[in-house]
Amino acid sequence: MTGTPREILGGRLRIALEAAGLDPERGEVSAAADTRFGDYQSNAAMVLAKKKKANPRQLAADMISKIDVGGISAAPEVAGAGFLNFRLEPEFIASCIQELAGDPRLGVVPAKAPRKIVLDFSSPNVAKPMHVGHIRSTILGDCLARVARFLGHDVTTDNHIGDWGTQFGKVIYGWKHFLDRDALGRDAIAELVRLYREVNRIEETDEAVKKSARDELVKLQAGDPENLAIWKETVELSWREFEKLYALLEIRFDERLGESAYNDALAPLCEELQRRGIAQVSEGALCIFFPEVPALAEKPAIIRKSDGGFLYATTDLATIEYRIKRWSPDAIWYVVGAPQALHFQQIFAACRRMGIEAGLAHITFGSILGEDRKIMKTRSGENVGLAEVLHEAVERARKMIATRQDGLSAEEAESIAQTIGLGAVKYAELSQNRHTDYVFSWDKLLALDGNTAPYLQNAYVRIRSIFRRGGIEADPLAKVLISEPAERILAIKLLQYAETVPVVLEDFRPNLLANYLYELANTYHSFYEACPVLKAEPAIRASRLLLSEVTARTLAHGLSLLGIRCPEKM
Ligand code: ARG
Repeated sequence: MTGTPREILGGRLRIALEAAGLDPERGEVSAAADTRFGDYQSNAAMVLAKKKKANPRQLAADMISKIDVGGISAAPEVAGAGFLNFRLEPEFIASCIQELAGDPRLGVVPAKAPRKIVLDFSSPNVAKPMHVGHIRSTILGDCLARVARFLGHDVTTDNHIGDWGTQFGKVIYGWKHFLDRDALGRDAIAELVRLYREVNRIEETDEAVKKSARDELVKLQAGDPENLAIWKETVELSWREFEKLYALLEIRFDERLGESAYNDALAPLCEELQRRGIAQVSEGALCIFFPEVPALAEKPAIIRKSDGGFLYATTDLATIEYRIKRWSPDAIWYVVGAPQALHFQQIFAACRRMGIEAGLAHITFGSILGEDRKIMKTRSGENVGLAEVLHEAVERARKMIATRQDGLSAEEAESIAQTIGLGAVKYAELSQNRHTDYVFSWDKLLALDGNTAPYLQNAYVRIRSIFRRGGIEADPLAKVLISEPAERILAIKLLQYAETVPVVLEDFRPNLLANYLYELANTYHSFYEACPVLKAEPAIRASRLLLSEVTARTLAHGLSLLGIRCPEKM
């Protein structure tokens, strides 16, 4: 098999279009929306007829007379306004599955043009807990890195932590006056947040403290050794807390180049941009104006304030320069919430003016809502942190498996609870369209039925248990027999894994993969209801075992691309 059914049929259709003197570019084939009429379909005739003002059904008939799909599908049929419907030949399906069974990549071919990609995600702020926005960025970003790597791209992940900023004036002042060392040892971020809030509170009524905190910031920026040492310690302590969460989530970064890494680059960058005429002084501030971008016509980016201070935008421009110099990437992807859309529009427009050619993408997402449909908060009204969410998920999973399984060792039970709890949180994120806000509901997230990680993990476990019960393994060389409709539907679904994975990167949509896995699990369920496996006669049994095995592998593989593990029991 050279390619997926979609590619093979598309290739044949393009040859036919060419032979009919039509634009072969329009030869797109996709999985059928309604499998009653076929397995694959194309709207090429309708698209081309519109352009040529021709009759679509007539055009479709012309295509059919020219297309050669022998050995792959029956002659396509015209349906509706001019759809071409293809029904795959059972022998073709069987031979594709046979190949899949021996392919560790499950049919997914690496990208023809691998790219160098820098992926900026998670990027929490020091001395602040990771909030819901960071949860989405962390989980989405990690998934995109996994998928891109699997497709053969060269990915460098960089955690651009917010480790420099005006909050440090308050944190350092608080550190010097009210630090509780024991509390710092117990939960560093909580203590740093407390210091920050405490200073904020006092400042409101005490001008002298406000000034002192500002002086601490100026001293830090001027390189005062004591303040630098305190700053460094707050960064390391915060990072250690973040790392605990990353370890739990099995997420790692190639680089951790926070904002502070670019401090020395900001002044020279501003001078260079001014010299090149890209930035201009306006009312004392150095700005980049974007008359060429209508949406930004009234919205210049300020890169140096009139008091000489630099901004978030300045750091991001310096960061891009550095990344280009160091990695010459084809693309830089930022997984950051929608509220920063204007910031990235400005940065990207500035990059075009600077002559930077890498493809820059802001991968945005909405918020997570509580069950009251408001931004998720804890009972005391604070934004919910990632740490709390993960701990609660694992705790709930512990309770869930305690009621289901006996005969598990404490260690096994704990590892399964982690796999289920963390998987559920990740899947809740990845199964959503990233643009929409979603409601975080513990019961839905951990439900064993529905589009959830536990449902998919359970589907995997149930297939594995068929093999355990039968005391057998699938024979990868068994002959695949496709006769029942349910076998056919399952087999075609399996072939579509290879068509689904690459699409995830087209518009950064892990939910397409999640939904595919959910449909696959449902399809397997129908297959299992309709087709006995262990009790079938030997040749059919071997074929069905092989279909089951490929299903289990596809589920586990797809979940692993989402950063989710499968337990062997649950
Ligand atoms: N630290 C920022 C925040 O929490 C996100 C940084 C995103 N990355 C970037 N290169 N600006 O909002």
